[in-house]
Amino acid sequence: MSHYAEHAPHGPSRRPPSDLVVGVADQRHAEGIAALHAAREGVPVEQSRSWAQRALDRTGERSYLVVAETGGRVVGYGLAGWLDSETAPQGFYLLGVVTDPSFRRMGIAHEITLQRLDWIRERADEAFYFANAANAATIDLHARFGFREVMRASEIAGVTFDGGSGILYRATLTANPHPGASSGTWAVTVGSTGVRFSPGPGEASVAPPDAAIKAVLADGSEVVPRMEVVSDEDGGGFWHRFDPPLADGSVIYLNGSAIMTVGPAAP
Ligand SMILES: CC(C)(COP(=O)(O)OP(=O)(O)OC[C@H]1O[C@@H](n2cnc3c(N)ncnc32)[C@H](O)[C@@H]1OP(=O)(O)O)[C@@H](O)C(=O)NCCC(=O)NCCS
Repeated sequence: MSHYAEHAPHGPSRRPPSDLVVGVADQRHAEGIAALHAAREGVPVEQSRSWAQRALDRTGERSYLVVAETGGRVVGYGLAGWLDSETAPQGFYLLGVVTDPSFRRMGIAHEITLQRLDWIRERADEAFYFANAANAATIDLHARFGFREVMRASEIAGVTFDGGSGILYRATLTANPHPGASSGTWAVTVGSTGVRFSPGPGEASVAPPDAAIKAVLADGSEVVPRMEVVSDEDGGGFWHRFDPPLADGSVIYLNGSAIMTVGPAAP
């Protein structure tokens, strides 16, 4: 397994298997987690078994391990926990997420990250993670959760980086529930190419996932969007783009509720 996923900002994204289950890991998952860890890190599986067992044994108030499973097979895992280090802020961190290469771009790492952030949110009002500056895929994955760069360094919390540069990120966590769970917290703007969700004042900048949004066209067919993050300079928020662009009369749904209708362009 190559170390980083190839950076492919425009997908393709795929639907996850219908029996996918994402939740807290337990002893049954030890071997599957070890196999994924060994493939990703390029280490012997015995070494990864010890790593997985330590992660499972540590699970508790300060450490959390989430696993994704389909057809009895572990296809992803993600770790979160408390870090106390001299070279990074003390706090709760996302400590690595891996998806089996055959199951990538199905939203699995997104869901694993969502669940880890929910766990951190119960304990703190901020979360950190760090990544190799060259790992654009993971940086894109986390951007959706409102992470902002704090610093770059050659070593963060005892970790050094191939290529020499790591980036520490921080996100503010508020009592905001799952992305998109309450449309009331979003300022929603509609345009012919998509819908923009901007967090309200004091709200966490967490985007509703594409799966929470759909457009129903005038002929009754449904279209799902693709999300891109809009920079703060452009007003911030999250555009969910539709391709082809939406015709007048298309109705936008968030979490199953119609929230607006695309109207004619202003003269
Ligand atoms: C990074 C990684 C965990 C992503 O896993 P995944 O399950 O494929 O990710 P998801 O399907 O949940 O992707 C969610 C979003 O992240 C971003 N993303 C994920 N993979 C990407 C890639 N290769 N290129 C660009 N963006 C990517 C996209 O915004 C994606 O949303 P979209 O599919 O709607 O465009 C996976 O590629 C992996 O295991 N890489 C190797 C291990 C690693 O680098 N882990 C992170 C550091 S520990």
